[in-house]
Amino acid sequence: MIIAIDGPAAAGKGTLARLIAAEFDYAYLDTGALYRAVGLAMLKAGMNPADSDQAAAASEKLDLSLIDDPALRSEAVGSAASQVASVPTVRDNLLYFQRNFAVTPPNNKKGAVLDGRDIGTVVCPNAEVKLYVTASPEERARRRTSEIQMRGEVANYATILADVKARDARDMARTSAPLKPAADALLLDTTELDIDAVFLRAVRFIKSKA
Ligand code: DC
Repeated sequence: MIIAIDGPAAAGKGTLARLIAAEFDYAYLDTGALYRAVGLAMLKAGMNPADSDQAAAASEKLDLSLIDDPALRSEAVGSAASQVASVPTVRDNLLYFQRNFAVTPPNNKKGAVLDGRDIGTVVCPNAEVKLYVTASPEERARRRTSEIQMRGEVANYATILADVKARDARDMARTSAPLKPAADALLLDTTELDIDAVFLRAVRFIKSKA
């Protein structure tokens, strides 16, 4: 069983994906972390994430150790990831790893949960379950702001809202695998639903497909 979860930044995909993976004892892959690893590798090497040729070269060898780097979650790396993600060669280079994880999940797990932007449309178009998780930009910016503040860091709501909107525009407008719901995805708008309600709906949908 492959469960594809897509949606914009800070909609709650990651939380939902982890809960679902735990519920069904499936393997979980945060595919955004792969794009972030490419962005972080470039920043560490002093490369420019806006340079497509450099991004393509940086994505040839995926350094999985960067997934555990504390800098992976920073806004700077998120922005670099969004830039490298618009380069078709980068997407191609990351495709094999993602498909392989979905088809042959690690640790002999019987299923895989992948979250990202194009899992149901491009990476796993034959996934048995596709979920599209979204929320209003204002709500997502509010959540991101409080997440950062909870870490004890300074966060500015207006700046974060502008960043959320810019990231959405870039992820949805790119020609290579843009962010959009698959035709057969269950839409989950989390603007006014808490995580427990979203999780219950998702589990009901997954059981209906099993
Ligand atoms: O979900 P995230 O914020 O960690 O993702 C970082 C960037 O990676 C995001 O701006 C878009 C890109 N991405 C993508 O293009 N395709 C995916 N499957 C996952 C992430």
